[in-house]
Order: sequence, then structure tokens, then C-alpha cells
Amino acid sequence: MHVLVAGGAGYIGSVLTPLLAERGHKVTVLDRFYFGPTLPKHDAIHVVRSDIRTFDPAILRGVDAVVDVSGISNDPSCELEPELTRGVNIDGGKRLARYAKEAGVRRYVYSSSCSVYGHGEGLGLTETSGRHPVSLYALAKAEMEDVLFGELKGPSFEVCALRLATVFGLSTRMRFDLAINVMTKNAYVNRRIMVDGGGRQWRPFVHVRDVADAFALAMTADAKLVAGEVFNVGSTSNNVQILNLAFRVRDAIPGTEVVHAPTDPDLRDYNVNFDKIHRVLDYSTKRTIDDGIREVLEALREGRVDPDERRWYTLKQYLFLREAERAHAELALDGRVLF
Ligand SMILES: NC(=O)c1ccc[n+]([C@@H]2O[C@H](COP(=O)([O-])OP(=O)(O)OC[C@H]3O[C@@H](n4cnc5c(N)ncnc54)[C@H](O)[C@@H]3O)[C@@H](O)[C@H]2O)c1
Repeated sequence: MHVLVAGGAGYIGSVLTPLLAERGHKVTVLDRFYFGPTLPKHDAIHVVRSDIRTFDPAILRGVDAVVDVSGISNDPSCELEPELTRGVNIDGGKRLARYAKEAGVRRYVYSSSCSVYGHGEGLGLTETSGRHPVSLYALAKAEMEDVLFGELKGPSFEVCALRLATVFGLSTRMRFDLAINVMTKNAYVNRRIMVDGGGRQWRPFVHVRDVADAFALAMTADAKLVAGEVFNVGSTSNNVQILNLAFRVRDAIPGTEVVHAPTDPDLRDYNVNFDKIHRVLDYSTKRTIDDGIREVLEALREGRVDPDERRWYTLKQYLFLREAERAHAELALDGRVLF
């Protein structure tokens, strides 16, 4: 299959892209590479360094499936420049989907998020539960779902949305702004874990390689099973209250203290049911939260991942890029800022 992965160099993308190439697919990656060169060299991987808002639609010619794992990927980064967020996460997302449909791409798999449940009502939310997004990030996800299953719906365009739990685990584009990864990093580096928002809020979690498996499955599954469908991606046993998560990380790293940050209660509170993807696609996750803590901890201990690397902190990197843009606009002479 020829697959175009938008955002294929991101945290999820840089695990998914090599996995698809190793499984015999031809992969075109469309990405801005905001987080640097994170992909391995591979004959089956072709890189297009471009923007989903402006890319040349000709790159969709001959593509069988599109997986969209692009975009500004957390709440604070989305709040930084709301217009930019709408431009990338909504307008860019729609543009990619429209061009894919026009180009005759059959399968379209979108990375939505369990954060669309927002302030969840009760435990065990399913795909038919109400959506109550409480951030611009989550609102954009909900709007993209509506567009994909609304105006872009069509018999020859097999759209599927995966609502991912919060992801954890190692990737070559590391993210130390995701709960399990950041708690493990903070416990290892500072022997201290800060719990925001009270700690009673529920969150579901899923390992990044399990997420990659879910995308590969949604991309290749029978259209009868996935077209027009939404799936929560994760496992019911990986729903945890944030304070309990902190205790689990603390137990893995002796001498760690858990401290409550003086913040307002976190409005994002959702406990999710993952039976549908198991029942319909026979999908099960293979990695537990404790596997993830162990994996990240080992990588830190062995020096395989740098906890001080700015690019592994999504907001910091976007702040840096915004400053770089400003400096360039104010100071550039003949296209150069310093030299
Ligand atoms: N990681 C999670 O916990 C999680 C959970 C639910 C949903 N998601 C969604 O999955 C997707 C991937 O998340 P991630 O964790 O890999 O994030 P990420 O930030 O690591 O990756 C996003 C990628 O998109 C690229 N990108 C950003 N703007 C672009 C643009 N305008 N044009 C082209 N490329 C652009 C970036 O360079 C980056 O490589 C996102 O849509 C995210 O919202 C992630």
C-alpha cells in the first residue's frame, strides 16, 4: 500500500512511519519537521518537507491511504497562537482531507483524541457518549471529526477516526510533556513529581507502539468495519487517576516525593471504555503503564534520551520557533540573522 503520513516525523509519526515501512508499505511523510530530523533512512520512506496548509496536492497521486498524525499537539501549545492553531489543526486538516478525497485516496485515518470527552460524565465513556471538549485543542479535534463524517462523507472515501488515549513510551521525537513520560523524567531527574489539578481526574493511557499498531490496523482493515467509524484507542485497565499514576511512578523510583501543585482543578476528566476496537477489530494493547515507566526510566539511566533537549518539550519548542520567527522578521539582512 502507498500511505501518506502527515505529521510522520512527530512523536507518534516517528514510530508509525518506520513500522509501516518495515511491514512493506511505501510511505510518503508530509511534515514541517518542527522537532528535527527524527526518521531513519529507509528506501520505502519518502520525505516531503512541507506544510499541510500549503503542500502541493500532487503528492497525493497514487496514494491508497492517508494517516493524519500532524498538528499542534497539546493544550498549551494550541493556546499560544489560537489563529495558528485553527489554521493548522482545522483548516490544514480539512485541506488535507479534501485533497485526499479529490485525489481518489480510499482510506483516511484521523488522529482524534479522548480529550474530546473533556469533562466526562461518569466512568467508561464510549464512542457514543457526549463530547464536552474544554480546550481549543480538543475543540479542534471535535470539529475535524464533524467535517470528516459530515461534509466529506462519501461512499468511496473510507474515513475512520481514532480517539487516542494519552500516549506514553519512547520515540525518536520524544515528548516529555505527556503525563507518564514527564512524571518518570521528573522522578528520575528531581526525585519529585508535581501533581496538577487536584489529582482525582481520570485519564486513559496507551503506549506509542500500540498506537502505531492501531493506525496500521485501521488503515488495512475491511472497509465494512472501519468506514464512518470512531474508535477509542487504549485499554480499559489503563484508565488511572492522576494522583495514582504519580504514586506508581514514585514506587518505581525510590526516594521520589509527590507534591500537589497549587493549581485549579483540572476540568479534563475522562475515564474511557475501549471495548469497541477490541470487539470490531480484534485489537488489544500489548504494553502496560508500568512497561512505559520502565522503558522511559531505562532510556534515561542509559543516556539514550536527553531530558534537557528543548525539542522534547512541545510548548518550549513552539515558543522557541515563535521567537526565532520574530528575530528573523526584525533582524534579518539578506535572509540571515547573525552571520
Ligand atoms: N501524543 C498523544 O498523547 C496524543 C493523544 C491524542 C491525540 N494525539 C494526536 O496525534 C497527532 C500526533 O501527535 P504527536 O504526539 O505525535 O505530536 P507531535 O507534536 O510530536 O507531532 C506532530 C507533527 O506534526 C508536524 N506538524 C505540525 N504542524 C504542521 C504543519 N502545519 N504542516 C505539516 N506538519 C506539521 C510536526 O512537525 C510534528 O512532526 C496529533 O494530531 C495529536 O493531537 C496525540
